[in-house]
Amino acid sequence: MTARTDTLTDNLRFLRALIARPKQIGALAPSSRALARAIAHQIDPDRPGPVLELGPGTGVITSAILARGIAPERLTVIEYDADFAAAIAARFHGVQVIQGDAFDLTRTLGARHCELFAGIVSGIPLLNFPVSRRQTYVESLTARLAPDAALVQFSYGMHAPVLAPPGHGVTCAALVWANLPPARVWVYRKI
Ligand SMILES: C[S@@+](CC[C@H](N)C(=O)[O-])C[C@H]1O[C@@H](n2cnc3c(N)ncnc32)[C@H](O)[C@@H]1O
Repeated sequence: MTARTDTLTDNLRFLRALIARPKQIGALAPSSRALARAIAHQIDPDRPGPVLELGPGTGVITSAILARGIAPERLTVIEYDADFAAAIAARFHGVQVIQGDAFDLTRTLGARHCELFAGIVSGIPLLNFPVSRRQTYVESLTARLAPDAALVQFSYGMHAPVLAPPGHGVTCAALVWANLPPARVWVYRKI
């Protein structure tokens, strides 16, 4: 397949998922490459250890994380949608793909990851969920971060989708206009 037909197939797959599950998809189209690059830029490839991506969808951010220099074997992705998960597994060899619920990490990761993550990227459309659920979600992620490692979450809002959990700070690392709609990249870290 050419890059153009790949993109078309991805956009159609995304549209199908959006129609079926609008709340969980929460975007009109996959993230732009510019947004994906800005997100991946927050992950330090020289920091050893595994990296986790939640809600990869069609894989635009997955691709940017790998291009950033993270070896596929270091990357685990969790995707709820079976069609997206199968497409990601077929496209990104070496990446561990888990079809499951990012909101229930204990169950979804099981015994697979006792090691803390060197970086976590979340593409879950948090603004579509109640604040208490968002807060619990972000706390479940920061608890699995190595010291100084980043939890990266993008959103379409002006403010961070969740307050930083106790002992953590949150900053807006980028505002990416070249995305539909423009998006902010939020980084949570221990302080
Ligand atoms: C806004 S789309 C982002 C897709 C991709 N990361 C991008 O930037 O184009 C949200 C993604 O999160 C996935 N998702 C939503 N809720 C989820 C959950 N509870 N567990 C895992 N994935 C979930 C959706 O299926 C979808 O792929």
